[in-house]
Amino acid sequence: MQDAESVEWPHGDDPRSNRSAAPPIAAIISRRALLAGLAAATLAPLARPARAADGVFAPVPAGVDDRDHLPVGHSRQVLLRWGDPLFADAPAFSVAGQSAAAQARQFGYNCDFVCYFPLPAGSRSSDHGLLVVNHEYAIPALMFPGVAPGREATQTLGPAEAAVEMASLGASVVEVRRGPGGWTVVPGAHTRRITATTPMVLGGPAAGHPRMRTTADPAGRTVAGTFANCAGGETPWGTVLSGEENVHAFFGGAAGDDPARARYGIDGRGWYSWHRHDPRFDLAREPNEPNRFGWIVEFDPYDPRSVPVKRTALGRFKHEGATCVVNPDGRIAVYQGDDERFEYVYKFVTTRAWVPGDPAANRDLLDDGILYVARFHADGRLEWLPLVHGQGPLTAENGFPDQATVVIEARRAADRVGATPMDRPEDVEASPKTGRVYVTMTNNHRREAARIDAANPRAENRHGHVIEMVPPAGPGGPDHAATEASWELFLAAGRPGTDPGTVYGAGSGPEDWLSCPDNLVFDAAGRLWIATDSGLAAGAADGLYLATTEGPERGRVRRLYRAPIGAEVTGPAFTPDGRTLFLSVQHPGASRGSHFARPSTRWPDFAEGVPPRPSVVAITRDDGGPVGG
Ligand code: FEO
Ligand code: CA
Ligand code: CA
Repeated sequence: MQDAESVEWPHGDDPRSNRSAAPPIAAIISRRALLAGLAAATLAPLARPARAADGVFAPVPAGVDDRDHLPVGHSRQVLLRWGDPLFADAPAFSVAGQSAAAQARQFGYNCDFVCYFPLPAGSRSSDHGLLVVNHEYAIPALMFPGVAPGREATQTLGPAEAAVEMASLGASVVEVRRGPGGWTVVPGAHTRRITATTPMVLGGPAAGHPRMRTTADPAGRTVAGTFANCAGGETPWGTVLSGEENVHAFFGGAAGDDPARARYGIDGRGWYSWHRHDPRFDLAREPNEPNRFGWIVEFDPYDPRSVPVKRTALGRFKHEGATCVVNPDGRIAVYQGDDERFEYVYKFVTTRAWVPGDPAANRDLLDDGILYVARFHADGRLEWLPLVHGQGPLTAENGFPDQATVVIEARRAADRVGATPMDRPEDVEASPKTGRVYVTMTNNHRREAARIDAANPRAENRHGHVIEMVPPAGPGGPDHAATEASWELFLAAGRPGTDPGTVYGAGSGPEDWLSCPDNLVFDAAGRLWIATDSGLAAGAADGLYLATTEGPERGRVRRLYRAPIGAEVTGPAFTPDGRTLFLSVQHPGASRGSHFARPSTRWPDFAEGVPPRPSVVAITRDDGGPVGG
C-alpha cells in the first residue's frame, strides 16, 4: 500500500512532503480534453514504433492523467473491478446498494497481490485458471457517497459501512478462462471470498500461546479473518501465501502503555471505526487481538472449503509478501520484507524438504523451521541471523521466554540480534535463471545523512532502490538456506538529472527511470518486472517496468504500463506461457483532494456517479506473443 504519511488515503492528516511535484487535480481535470487523445492511445496506436531498435517494446512515456497507457502493440482488458459479482447469485455492483452481504459475494476493494493457478491443478494451462487476489484496505471517501476524505470521517463511520469495509478486504479466488474474445470470469465451484470475518486457524509456535488468547478464542488457536492483505506468494505445493501488512490501522481504543504494541504502531489511533462496532478491535477490551494479525496466511485456492492457516513461524510484522524458493536440497526458503521505515528483510527456511505430490506431507511444512533476519555489511557480505529462542540475546532474561514470543515480537528480536534497518523493504523475488534474489526498498524520506549505510546509501531516500542478494553456490545450485550471502546495489530510483544519486544501467534513455519500486515478478523468459507505488513522488504516475538484470544494460528499466492518477500498480502475475500479464490497479483516484463526488479519475468505467474502481487488468500483445517482447 501507499506510504501512510505521503498520501491522504486513508490516513489523510499528513501533508505530503513533496506535493509540489504533482500537478493539482484541477489542472488535471481541465486537461481532460487535451488528454482524451492520449487516453485513447491506451488501446489505439500512437505515432511511435511498436518496437525499440533492440526488439523490446517502445516504452510508454512518463506522465500523469486519468487513464492508463500501454505501448503500441499491447492491449489490456479490465477483468475484475471492485464490486463485480463473483458468484452466480451475487448482486450486481450498486453504489447506492452496498451491503456487507453483497460485498462478501463481490470482488473486494483495493486489489493487490495476484497469483495465477492453472486449471486443472498441476497443469501448465495458460488459458484456464484461478486468480487469487488480495484486497488490502478500504478508502471510504471513494467508496461511499458523502464521506469526507481523511481519517476523522473514516473513524466515525457507522456499523453498516464498517461491515462493508470488513467484507471488502481479504482475498478473492476467481476462476478465469481465455477465449477468442479475451478473458472472462467464470462463476464456478472454486470461487471464494475470504474476508475480515472468515474463520481461520493459527499454526506454528505462537498457536495457543497466552498472548494469542481472547474472549472469543480462549485457546488462542482460531481467528476470525484477515485484512491488510498486501502482496503474497505461492508454494510449490499449490497453496497461496497472503501477507498481512498494515494491520495496526484497524484497531482503536485505549492502547495503554505497551511497548510491544507500540513497536507495531498499534497505538489506538487506527484509520477505521471497526473498534466502535466490534469489541475485538477495541484494544482496551481485547488487548491480545492485534497479536493475531501481522502474519502470513496460507490457504489452498483449489479447495474453497479449506481453512486458512496463519503461519506464525514466519514471524509477525508488516508483511509485504512471502516468496518461496525451492532450495536444491528440497527445503523451502521464504523471503519476506517488513514494509516500514527502518525495518528488516527476513528469510524463513523450513526444517524439512517438501515432498512433490504429497499434500499431507507439505501441509504444515511452514510451521517448522528457522526465521532469519538480514544484516548487510559494507563489504558486500550478507549475514542471515537466526531468530531462535535461547540463541544469542533471545533469552528469557531479555524478555523472550519462548519461541512464541520471538515470533510475536519478531521486530524486537531482530533489533536484539543486530539486523540492518532498511528503507521500507517490500517485495522479494529470485531469478529462476541465476538464483539471484532481488528485494525492493521502496523509499524512506526519514533516513538522515548520519544514518546512511552501504545498503541504504541515500539520505531522504524518496525514490527507493533495489538490492540484489546472491546466495552462495552449493551442491546442485544456489544455496538459499545458507546463513551467509553477498549483496550489491542493483539500481537507485528517481528521475535522473533531477533526483540525486540515481543508478541505472548503461544505455538508459531519458524515459528509463522509475520511482518507489514495490512488487516484483519474473516472467516465463526469466525477465524481471518492477511495479511501483510512488504516490506521484516524482510527479509521474506509477507503472510496471521491465528491468534488465544481465549484460551491459543491467539495471536499465522500461515502462510497459502507466496507471491512472492516484493508482499504484501491484500484483504482477504472468500465465505460464508469458502471453498474459495480470496487474492490479490499486486505489485509482486516491490523489489529493479526490473524493467520491469529485474523484480525480473515474477509471475504469468513466460513468457519472460511479467512483473509480480498483481493478485487475489482463494485458496481452496484439499479435499473441509474449507480453513485453
Ligand atoms: Fe501494501 Fe508494502 O505495500
Ligand atoms: Ca508499497
Ligand atoms: Ca505493496
